[in-house]
Amino acid sequence: MNILILGGGGREHALAWAVLQNPKCDRLIVAPGNAGIAEIAECAEIDILDGGLVAAFAEENSVSFVIVGPEAPLAAGLADRLRDAGLLVFGPSQAAARLEASKAFTKEICDAAGAPTAAWARFTDARAAKAHVRAQGAPIVVKADGLAAGKGVVVAMSEDEAMAAIDEMFGGAFGAAGAEVVIEEFMEGEEASFFVLSDGTDVLPIGTAQDHKRVGEGDTGPNTGGMGAYSPAPVMTPEVTDLALERIVRPTIAEMARRGTPYQGVLYVGLMIRDGAPRLVEYNVRFGDPECQVLMMRLGGQALDLMLACAEGRLRGAQVNWAEDHAMTVVMAARGYPGAYAKGSEIRGLDALPEDSRHMVFHAGTARRNGAVIATGGRVLNITARGDTLDEARDRAYAMVDAVDWPGGFCRRDIGWRALGGR
Ligand code: AMP
Ligand code: GLY
Repeated sequence: MNILILGGGGREHALAWAVLQNPKCDRLIVAPGNAGIAEIAECAEIDILDGGLVAAFAEENSVSFVIVGPEAPLAAGLADRLRDAGLLVFGPSQAAARLEASKAFTKEICDAAGAPTAAWARFTDARAAKAHVRAQGAPIVVKADGLAAGKGVVVAMSEDEAMAAIDEMFGGAFGAAGAEVVIEEFMEGEEASFFVLSDGTDVLPIGTAQDHKRVGEGDTGPNTGGMGAYSPAPVMTPEVTDLALERIVRPTIAEMARRGTPYQGVLYVGLMIRDGAPRLVEYNVRFGDPECQVLMMRLGGQALDLMLACAEGRLRGAQVNWAEDHAMTVVMAARGYPGAYAKGSEIRGLDALPEDSRHMVFHAGTARRNGAVIATGGRVLNITARGDTLDEARDRAYAMVDAVDWPGGFCRRDIGWRALGGR
């Protein structure tokens, strides 16, 4: 079958790498892709927010399965448009994508489903929001309701910080995404990400991961899109996983179906775990980036069968064949990220790195210029490795990092520290 993957980051490179290992894939096109993806698949420069254009492109190229990577096209209704055109799509409808596109919507669903999450309130004006913060005290969490590219959440340790966040959001810092603000109880505990597929009715867990959002070692400094990740997450014991499924995931999927907006695709369940009890932090309606890279490293070619079963409503009885393995990805970013950074610096040494079932360099923000690989984004490379233990995966990943010749880049040296016992 001919398959089209939408997106152009490390997540989509990992999806492409896994899909290509499955003999069902005859031809793979990734739009827009990047320099790393171009080494393994065809890339096409098309506007993936334009449903009509993507549908026409799919038809011209006899594509029968479309995998949507990022959230923006899903929130804009791309999956609906493609399904209307008769295509098989992996990714939720616009109505179901509200689980990521609106924080207040997610909280309503949690309340209706009885899913444990932080206490919350919603506001459309700053005065009432501030009065609420004064009544609750700090720490407290202030969130822009809509999509804000991961920047719309402020975990305020003081009331002043919360007030400033409220002013910023209602002041238009996030455009329409900040027209409504959700204020939440601050939850303590350990965070983990839980990934499940749902075909609207059935649910299949496909792995757990933890990422490192802060730019600095020891999880310090400003937030980023993620500086590294590993799978599985030790905190997601079988007991915690069962609790998350039974109390949070299944009731959510049932509530979405009850409302006539069934959820089909991967659901990224962000959890806060304390004393063995998981509570929902957030949902995302797509794979995490860079969590997808470690999940794909562990799933390999079966990822395509699972995504097909999900899109075709065949998840009942589907199984994941797990190896007792561990994967880690280390993000190499351009110096300065997540602040201002230079684009266009050259990366050398990539050709000499091993690329096999245990080692892979996924490209997140690269392009090729006159034969050379250059950095075009903040997060640029995802150096990913698999091993029998997390230590082994880590040693393999950092051995590759050390072989990359890129003076314009940096990475955290401590990815996995929590799971590795604070090393
Ligand atoms: P979100 O985009 O909703 O995942 O929020 C980004 C990050 O903010 C999460 O990964 C958490 O680290 C933190 N966060 C969000 N909501 C809460 C909460 N209610 N309590 C504590 N931390 C939170
Ligand atoms: N790594 C966090 C995310 O993809 O949202």
